[in-house]
Amino acid sequence: MSEAQAESQMSAKGLIGIILAAIIGIPVFIYLVIKLATGGMMLDAASPSMTNEAIAARVQPVGFAKLDESGPPGSRNGKAVYESVCLSCHDAGLAGAPKFADVGAWAARLSKGFATLVDHANKGFNAMPAKGGAADLTDDEVARAVAYMGNAAGGKFTEPAVAGAAAGAVAKIDPAVKGKEIYDSVCMACHTSGAAGAPKFGDKAAWAPRLKDGVEAAIKIAIAGKGAMPAKGGYSGSDEEFHAAAEYLIGSAK
Ligand code: HEC
Ligand code: HEC
Repeated sequence: MSEAQAESQMSAKGLIGIILAAIIGIPVFIYLVIKLATGGMMLDAASPSMTNEAIAARVQPVGFAKLDESGPPGSRNGKAVYESVCLSCHDAGLAGAPKFADVGAWAARLSKGFATLVDHANKGFNAMPAKGGAADLTDDEVARAVAYMGNAAGGKFTEPAVAGAAAGAVAKIDPAVKGKEIYDSVCMACHTSGAAGAPKFGDKAAWAPRLKDGVEAAIKIAIAGKGAMPAKGGYSGSDEEFHAAAEYLIGSAK
């Protein structure tokens, strides 16, 4: 490489450095100026973010973090409770906690019986905090987690049933109703008027050739999109939901 070449490469590198510095540096500078102007940089002991409660919330250890929203309170199963709370100690065996699925560590504990273990888990037992530190767990949720953990280590416990399960089944969305809802809000735009050549709602003649390979085949095509029909008709929900809407639409022409 000649000296001139090397030099021009150096200055090219220098230029890139300056450009990068400008791209990154200018926004950061502006951000800092704004922060300073709005007082964000000053530590104000009177600010609401500096109360004891706010600080405590910020320094909360991960193990005692709030439960994730894997279900409404009281309805979480053993696995969900274990993974969001108990795992923080029982996975690694922290503070002498019997490890998950460690048959040796659990054998003597299992022989105490389910009721005793649940009682200990709910009320605390030596270094094991009550409810694993998650006070918002219901007793049943803790019991489900005990069953889940115990069974993983050779126990034969039954997780207490989720009381809301029956109610949940009733509240479950009827696919027929859901299908109509989606049709009315998304598919109708084309399939009611036949816009862009869409087979019309209730038009048997328009649908017959499309259904010759069966309803499922037609729905598969619609999920992938075809011609002026966008994939899933532009619907952003799940395939199951789209399926319900397609069934409702096709059902009108059968
Ligand atoms: C902060 C750590 C920690 C968390 C979180 C935790 N445990 Fe524990 N757990 C322990 C320790 C330590 C022991 C052992 C206590 C002993 O035997 O002295 C233990 C023991 C147990 C036992 C056995 C009790 C017995 O009588 O032998 C059960 C059951 C149990 N934990 C259930 C749970 C459940 C359910 C959760 C989640 C809801 C949970 N633990 C969360 C630390 C924890
Ligand atoms: C932007 C207009 C448009 C929207 C919105 C739309 N479709 Fe379509 N759809 C079409 C067109 C056009 C065709 C015909 C495509 C072709 O055959 O080239 C079609 C075809 C279909 C077919 C038949 C596929 C086949 O096998 O020929 C089904 C099923 C279907 N749409 C379902 C739906 C459902 C369900 C929705 C709503 C979630 C929906 N579409 C929303 C335009 C639309």
